[in-house]
Amino acid sequence: MSKGHELLRLSPVMPVVVIDEVADAVPVARALLAGGIRVIELTLRTPVALEAIERVASEVPEIVLGAGTVTTPEQAKQAADAGAKFLVTPGCTERVLEAAFATGLPFLPGAGTVSEAMRLAEQGLTALKFFPAEPSGGVAYLKAIAGPLPQLEFCPTGGITAQSAASYLALSTVGCVGGSWLTPKDALAAKDFDRITALAQEAAALA
Ligand code: 3PG
Repeated sequence: MSKGHELLRLSPVMPVVVIDEVADAVPVARALLAGGIRVIELTLRTPVALEAIERVASEVPEIVLGAGTVTTPEQAKQAADAGAKFLVTPGCTERVLEAAFATGLPFLPGAGTVSEAMRLAEQGLTALKFFPAEPSGGVAYLKAIAGPLPQLEFCPTGGITAQSAASYLALSTVGCVGGSWLTPKDALAAKDFDRITALAQEAAALA
C-alpha cells in the first residue's frame, strides 16, 4: 500500500483551498480545524501559495497540510521546501512523478482514466486523486472500475458538492472526496471564517 492511503483517512472531505491573500491562510486553516477537518490541500495557483504553505506549516501544525495543483517538478520541490507534508497533482507526467518521489513525501497523483490509474499503480501508487471527478464519469465511473481495479483507492475531486459527496463516500474504493465548497470565494472575501467552520462541521459529519 502506498503512503498516500493514510491521507484519505484523515477527514471525509479534503478541502481544496485557493488563497489569494496570504493573511487568510492561517485563519482558514484554523477555521477548518475548528470544524473538525484535519487536512487541507492548499493549491499552488496563486502567487502567494508557497508563502501561505509556509505560514500554515509553522502556525497550524495540527492540520495535515498538503500542496495541491503541483504540475511541474520544480513545484514539487518548492512545496516540500515550504513545509507541505504531502503533494497532490491533477494529472501525472514522468517528470512530476520523479520529482514527487524525490521529495520523499506521500502524494496523491491525479488520474482520470483506467490507463492512467494502471500506470500509477505500476509505480506503487494506489491512492489516487480521481480528477476531474464529475466530468470524468463520477460515481458511475468509479463503480465500474472497482471491479477490475479493487486495490485502488480514490479521492475524487472536481464538481463534487456537499450534496453529492455522500454518494461518493458510499463507494468502497473512495477514502475521501476533495472539494472547494468548504472555502467559498465570497466567504474568503468577507473574511467570514465562521462560515468556513460551519461548512467544515457539515463536511466532517459526512464520516
Ligand atoms: C481542484 O481544483 O482540484 C478541483 O477542481 C476542485 O474542484 P471543485 O472546485 O469543483 O470542488
